[in-house]
Amino acid sequence: MCGIVGYTGHRRAVNVVMDGLRRLEYRGYDSAGVALLDAGELVVEKRAGKLANLTEVLSGHSGLAGSTGIGHTRWATHGAPTDRNAHPHLGADGTLAVIHNGIIENFAVLRRELETGGVTFISETDTECVAHLLGQAYRAVSAERSDRLAEAMRRVCQRLDGAFTLLVVHSDQPDLVVGARRNSPLVAGRGDGENFLASDVSAFIEYTREAVELGQDQVIEVTPQAIVITDFFGAPAVGTDYHVDWDSAAAEKGGYDFFMLKEIAEQPQAVADTLRGRLTDTGEVVLDDMHMSPRQLRDIDKVFVIGCGTAYNAGLIAKYAIEHWTRIPVEVELASEFRYRDPVLGPNTLTIVISQSGETMDTIMALRHASEQKAPVLAICNTIGSTIPRESDAVLYTHAGPEVAVASTKAFLTQVTAVYLVGLYLAQARGVLFDDEIGDIVAALRKAPEAIAKVLTLMDPVRRLAESLRDADQVLFLGRHVGYPVALEGALKLKELAYMHAEGFAAGELKHGPISLIEEGTVVVVTVPSPRGRSVLHDKIVSNIQEVRARGARTVVIAEEGDDAVVPYADELIRVPHVATLLAPLVTTVPLQVLACGIAAARGNDVDQPRNLAKSVTVE
Ligand code: M6R
Repeated sequence: MCGIVGYTGHRRAVNVVMDGLRRLEYRGYDSAGVALLDAGELVVEKRAGKLANLTEVLSGHSGLAGSTGIGHTRWATHGAPTDRNAHPHLGADGTLAVIHNGIIENFAVLRRELETGGVTFISETDTECVAHLLGQAYRAVSAERSDRLAEAMRRVCQRLDGAFTLLVVHSDQPDLVVGARRNSPLVAGRGDGENFLASDVSAFIEYTREAVELGQDQVIEVTPQAIVITDFFGAPAVGTDYHVDWDSAAAEKGGYDFFMLKEIAEQPQAVADTLRGRLTDTGEVVLDDMHMSPRQLRDIDKVFVIGCGTAYNAGLIAKYAIEHWTRIPVEVELASEFRYRDPVLGPNTLTIVISQSGETMDTIMALRHASEQKAPVLAICNTIGSTIPRESDAVLYTHAGPEVAVASTKAFLTQVTAVYLVGLYLAQARGVLFDDEIGDIVAALRKAPEAIAKVLTLMDPVRRLAESLRDADQVLFLGRHVGYPVALEGALKLKELAYMHAEGFAAGELKHGPISLIEEGTVVVVTVPSPRGRSVLHDKIVSNIQEVRARGARTVVIAEEGDDAVVPYADELIRVPHVATLLAPLVTTVPLQVLACGIAAARGNDVDQPRNLAKSVTVE
């Protein structure tokens, strides 16, 4: 949602904070702002629009030598993306500045109370309430107290409902940043004579890889020499220290035009990293991270898979794989719908929540609902120490490395890889597949990174096609079996990046309505299952291609090398290497990612930061 960064130490805070914001801009880019403590003065600058606007303003400042500051990049919730609504927000006497990620749910009540007490608001944000409350609380805490600002923060947090990460600086406290978190992320970075706070470690990875994960409902005081953590009532608390195992290069574009292109190219390695240490030479799957006893594994009678957007699409693939391999019924749910329809689940319902960021509020609420029903929750997540893995019973990290582009690519392939591992592990633990059957799939999975690398070498025709589709009105995507979620994912990527009408359909469903969308020249992208697998699927989709072509569609066919049956019906043919039927999404999704990226770039859109979006959606 929003990105926040705080610094205190021996460097020029403006540089550290702006560097951090540059790395966090993927979280929101409606506005950006900083508050810097400079020679006892609080200097605040903020601008609507991208970070570049703020950079320009700051370049006009001379000085700014102070070494403590906070910065914010916003995805608007309360109030339009204007200069006035941009963070930081000031308390009434202008001595403190606050930034916020999340939503204060009781802000209307608080605002009314403050206005009745004579406070005048200058923004439409929920955050400004916090700034005024902090100003009042600070004045109420004894000036003798060394933790005066932290105590003010604790008192205010006790009054807030909702999700928030807050950072505050005060002009009386030159070397101090105070933070707080509930339901939104906050990590600290430990440096040498300097310390950091941020929404995620990428903001400070250039300076330190030693991080501290904060727990729920904690307040943190950060000075150049120390980090002190308490709960909201002042009781001492500890964070969880961890070492970040990737470096700052991983969070840079590395010569690519867009993060998205870099992340597409990283997919062979990312999938290899998801598999690493989880497959044995004798063809078994080792998932100690599932933390389930053989008895619990045997007793599972139903699986729910829950996620949003791309993660949901990965969940749909889980259904095909897990049901096929284990014969356990699997239901896939959009996280935002799950808890509102009173789903039936209990101690034998394995609930798998999938999330790249580990911060998606809809998914967090769904996992809490499952936990309340006593269902064991397994998270498939990329972000170490984020809320979703922390609140789950077990976690399977995907180890994809940082994903910066708003459009998920390597997160998707690694999530799909992780669900294959879970499905095989369940099949192995329950003895429903023979060892050699599992061994065959394990062998195929081992080769997946190689197959993905091969697809990447076959993308020139896709790039050319993208150029030619820049002015298309709509693109439809068709697939069958696991090709159906791939079609949904292809359409999601195109909508998100190219701002173009795109829909994914199960190919067999087309004649039940959507076929009327097709007119002369409509582009229809079809992923074709291997003719070597369940060839009935292959034959049926070849018929579907003919049906749309007969109605004037321009067909783009993604088919495996050597599949000649599709040639007569393909206006454009994109080849992918053969992989087993259930594993096909690992290769067939890649051309759709490249296509969406190419069309968006050809249309002049911002590929990494598409309009109206943010990388992680931390509000319901
Ligand atoms: O961080 P998460 O995986 O929980 O995010 C879920 C969705 O918001 C995310 O996949 C979104 O759909 C992507 N921008 C799609 O590319």
